[in-house]
Amino acid sequence: MSEVETEIDYGPLTVLIGVWDGGQGEDIAPEEDGEEHNPYYETIAFEAIGDVTNAESQTLVALHYRQIVKRKSDDKVFHDETGYWMWDAESDTVMHSLTIPRAVALLAGGKARREGDATVFEVSARLGDSDWTIVQSPFMRDRAKTTAFAHTISVTADELIYAETTMLDIYGRSFEHTDKNILSRRT
Ligand code: HEM
Repeated sequence: MSEVETEIDYGPLTVLIGVWDGGQGEDIAPEEDGEEHNPYYETIAFEAIGDVTNAESQTLVALHYRQIVKRKSDDKVFHDETGYWMWDAESDTVMHSLTIPRAVALLAGGKARREGDATVFEVSARLGDSDWTIVQSPFMRDRAKTTAFAHTISVTADELIYAETTMLDIYGRSFEHTDKNILSRRT
């Protein structure tokens, strides 16, 4: 980290900074006549990028992250995600923006809390919510609409466990698209 970065207090986000690898991923994704289960492995890299000031009154600290997910069955990337984790110390709010190359993006909001040795992040977004919401292309809105998103990450010193649920309206039904994994900090 540069000198500038070490001066900044990233609050609860500090524990995320670094590169994480995990090989116990379980994805449940929609299919027209059912669902597919995809065991996966992945790398998530969180980089501290400094702070920003909004309207001369709000200061956010931010991490940029990149998540690359590969199917175990063929070692091909089948999920590529990027975005920011931000923390507003004054309101103690955690924000998570993400975008995926299906033409879907969202801004989720929530909190971080301590649970024993762990820092637990819980954020969510809902289509139409006035605070934390989802944007998507017209095609996705009409054919594979993301209606809600919930994400929990629990971090101890060297282990990161996450579970996320993306609610979809697809193939004429509501589908719970879920992903979870356990990652270790790369040394
Ligand atoms: C580790 C994380 C994730 C993995 C491994 C994953 C994987 C998948 C897979 C395999 C499909 C089915 C694609 C197909 O049948 O062609 C799918 C569909 C979809 N995913 Fe994800 N996904 C992840 C996270 C997310 C997130 C965070 C969002 C949005 C917030 C999202 C939105 C969608 C949408 C909208 C579809 C429907 C498109 C379709 O099935 O044709 N996914 N995902």
